[in-house]
Amino acid sequence: RFSKKIPEGLQRLPGPNPLPVIGNALELGNDPHLSLTSMGKRYGDVFQIRIGMRPVVILSGSETIRQALLKQGDEFSSRPDLHSFSYITDGKSLAFSTDQVGVWRARRKLAYSALRSFSNLKGTTPEYSCMLEEHICKEAETLISEINTVMKTEGSFDPFRYIVVSVANVICGMCFGRRYNHDDEELLNLVNLSDEFTKVTGSGNLADFIPFLRYLPDKTMKTFVAITIRFNEFVSKIVSEHYATYNKDNIRDITDSLIDHCEDRKLDENANVQMSDEKIVGIVNDLFGAGFDTVTTALSWSLMYLVAYPEIEKKLFKELKDNVGLDRSPLLADRGNLPYMESFILEMFRHSSFVPFTIPHCTSKDTSLNGYFIPKDTCVFINQWQVNHDPELWKDPSAFIPERFLSADGKEVNKVEGEKVMAFSIGKRRCIGEVIARNEVFLFLATLIQRLHFHALPGEPLDFTPKYGLTMKFKRQHLKASMRQREKL
Ligand code: HEM
Repeated sequence: RFSKKIPEGLQRLPGPNPLPVIGNALELGNDPHLSLTSMGKRYGDVFQIRIGMRPVVILSGSETIRQALLKQGDEFSSRPDLHSFSYITDGKSLAFSTDQVGVWRARRKLAYSALRSFSNLKGTTPEYSCMLEEHICKEAETLISEINTVMKTEGSFDPFRYIVVSVANVICGMCFGRRYNHDDEELLNLVNLSDEFTKVTGSGNLADFIPFLRYLPDKTMKTFVAITIRFNEFVSKIVSEHYATYNKDNIRDITDSLIDHCEDRKLDENANVQMSDEKIVGIVNDLFGAGFDTVTTALSWSLMYLVAYPEIEKKLFKELKDNVGLDRSPLLADRGNLPYMESFILEMFRHSSFVPFTIPHCTSKDTSLNGYFIPKDTCVFINQWQVNHDPELWKDPSAFIPERFLSADGKEVNKVEGEKVMAFSIGKRRCIGEVIARNEVFLFLATLIQRLHFHALPGEPLDFTPKYGLTMKFKRQHLKASMRQREKL
């Protein structure tokens, strides 16, 4: 691959010199989003490093990434065959596997339409515009009463531990037609274990590139494998129960609708893409897996910012009080009337950039970008963190300023500024849960801010330092919450 001849008119990729065997692994360090952003300053928007023996191209800069993922989308939308990905859903994941393009496209379409139809289903009462809204609003109510109870008994709480169950219940409701109590051991054991998962799936996990590292007694990789097994068992059990009680005339949830699709397909002799039932029903693993950790992380970061910037929390509360009132819970229809809330959420995505890189991509044929030659099957990392902190795009990028997204009169969100934030990737691989995720973050957060006031434990400084991974989290730390007393306001 190295010796591939560079076609005439194209240049060899720039980048740091690699060491034998380990390549540039040492330069990646513990925070690859930061080290690769600094390298980008030196080598430009398209450069190459080597991790182990394998070349990896790093893309930065909004324009360059748009060129690759939108204009040259067909060439930049495959996934590399990485060791750790082979464990996820037994190597049959929609998001992580190296499916042929036709198979991936057909699965993605199925996943997308199942998600859309189950979130748009009518709610059980007319106050909700759709089932998704109903699920979120009800979970938000339960979350508030859970936080209230733990505050009374313990005096502080770990936000992640509570939010994760509520968020997991929203996606469980759609995928499996069920929810779990906040003290359900089986769910808690599963969803509280995502740390090792995100660490191993983050771009630049060395064991994916340097084979001998896989055989060292590394706890992270072992825990990761154990988590994927436990996760697959959890979902398989629910799927078997669905098969046993499946009734064509009563499709209860996304799992049923995927089973139904397999049944229909058996009758359809003209189906042009061959897919096993496992690959179809396995889509629920991806939806469930992608659906809780990301949204929970977004909400955990949001609470941290509220606590760190009490004057921003005050403004958010006032906006809610003036535009929604305090007698009913916020609804999706209120979103357009809460521009400061919308700006706060955009700034949370930008400033935290908690998905610093997309899932790694891979070239599907020999190609070129900005005049540089990139051979087929090259692994490509897309640096979303860099786009969100690029001083060319943002004034004072390291400061947390929701107002940067407001129009001059403060009455609406500046859409063009908002679209500059990169959190869900773009192009053919972009996140299929974006609408659901944005709705969840908005509704959970608006309800929490309307009902609770958050603060830090006295004398304990907040530690925002993110731990690198596919989704970056900070160290778990307890917060305090007090109910807003409606009568006093
Ligand atoms: C993929 C972000 C929530 C389902 C992705 C990717 C990103 C992302 C960056 C990788 C895109 C790429 O490789 O170029 C987020 C963020 C979320 C979120 C920031 C929440 C705040 C969700 C939810 C669901 C979901 C709620 C499902 C209900 C998926 C799936 C993929 C994906 C299935 C794989 C797409 C593919 O490979 O074709 N997401 N996501 N995500 N996301 Fe999300």
